[in-house]
Amino acid sequence: MTETGQFLFFTSCLYIIIYSLIICTVVVALPTKPEGYDLRPGAADAPFKIALFADLHFGEAESTEWGPLQDVNSTRVMSSVLDHETPEFVIYLGDVITANNILIRNASLYWDQAISPTRARGIPWASVFGNHDDAAFEWPIEWFSAPGIPKIHCPVANSSCSGKEDCSFQGTQRLELMKNEIELNTLSHSRYGPKGLWPSVSNYVLQVLSSEDPKSAVAFLYFLDSGGGSYPEVISGAQAEWFRQKALEINPDSSVPEIIFWHIPSRVYEKVAPKFGIHKPCVGSLNEEQVAPQEAEMGMMKLLVERKSAKAIFVGHNHGLDWCCPHKELWLCFARHTGYGGYGNWDRGARIVEITQKPFSVKSWIRMEDGNVHSEVVLSP
Ligand SMILES: *[C@@H]1O[C@H](CO)[C@@H](O)[C@H](O)[C@H]1NC(C)=O
Ligand SMILES: *[C@@H]1O[C@H](CO)[C@@H](O)[C@H](O)[C@H]1NC(C)=O
Ligand SMILES: *[C@@H]1O[C@H](CO)[C@@H](O)[C@H](O)[C@H]1NC(C)=O
Repeated sequence: MTETGQFLFFTSCLYIIIYSLIICTVVVALPTKPEGYDLRPGAADAPFKIALFADLHFGEAESTEWGPLQDVNSTRVMSSVLDHETPEFVIYLGDVITANNILIRNASLYWDQAISPTRARGIPWASVFGNHDDAAFEWPIEWFSAPGIPKIHCPVANSSCSGKEDCSFQGTQRLELMKNEIELNTLSHSRYGPKGLWPSVSNYVLQVLSSEDPKSAVAFLYFLDSGGGSYPEVISGAQAEWFRQKALEINPDSSVPEIIFWHIPSRVYEKVAPKFGIHKPCVGSLNEEQVAPQEAEMGMMKLLVERKSAKAIFVGHNHGLDWCCPHKELWLCFARHTGYGGYGNWDRGARIVEITQKPFSVKSWIRMEDGNVHSEVVLSP
């Protein structure tokens, strides 16, 4: 063994020891992605079509017989939507997995299943976190035996960190989930977001470029982490400030339209929600439950409402809502429950967002698993 070899051996042992000590929850070194954050429409003047996959909940009830069948079904929904729509881009809008039900250490294995229909078709994507993606494991009550001592269930292949921690269900944290997605997938456009905002991770911006002038942006797509799981369900003042500064830097005169994506609806969604059914100016087909909003509003909405370039916000979280309603100059939209995982039996589908370059427009509709299309709405101009 060479000296370097010995050193590497020593450091990797040390690494493994430290790693095991911290119970495999700390991400040690994060890979960097090239700065390019560009998305290019295919042909000149072709619209840029995005499919939103919301609330897939992979890994839910993985220890039951029906749990894994839900994931097979969710894969079928995504495949159907992708084949009907052939979008240029996919956004995973949070609750990709149900971490609180996942008893294997490495939840990325489920995350990876969720992104595979998109990857298999060569379509690039980006993701944001929801409240279930790194939620702490919840012991199923039926695991508690009569004397109150839980049986140990460790049925799935051991992870690379062997030892008794394999049964401790520490979960996979946001940074680790993101690391695995980004490192393994050249098609992923997801980012860790600025370190100063961690543990809120998926805060970043991508630009859709003009196909005629590759230097000019047609739209900015903003992604924010609305929390839940390992930290409160909010978009913090620090995240709002990051958005304010970023927008000032890359779009100082608000000349380029902005479209915003996060998981948990802001509190103002409650205000615009239709009372009974869905009536104009709202457009949609499902209004079956109350908005379950973020815990607090810390400035993000004020910034967005004041920006004439901010056109629409898209969220998931509420499986029984799929409407878009206007709020001042902004549209507030729900996606459509895509996964068979998660509560509710409403038919599954995906919200589609289509950006046209010239003249600029944003249109949206819902594509159902069975191929039907409904709830088309023009969100801009
Ligand atoms: C899977 O989808 C089929 C068809 O929609 C449905 O009948 C079945 O109940 C689903 N299974 C699960 C476990 O969700
Ligand atoms: C977790 O799974 C991913 C594959 O999805 C793999 O790349 C990664 O190395 C795994 N991490 C650990 C700690 O085993
Ligand atoms: C998991 O670990 C146990 C002992 O720790 C070993 O007997 C078993 O073969 C391992 N399983 C896999 C799939 O690696």
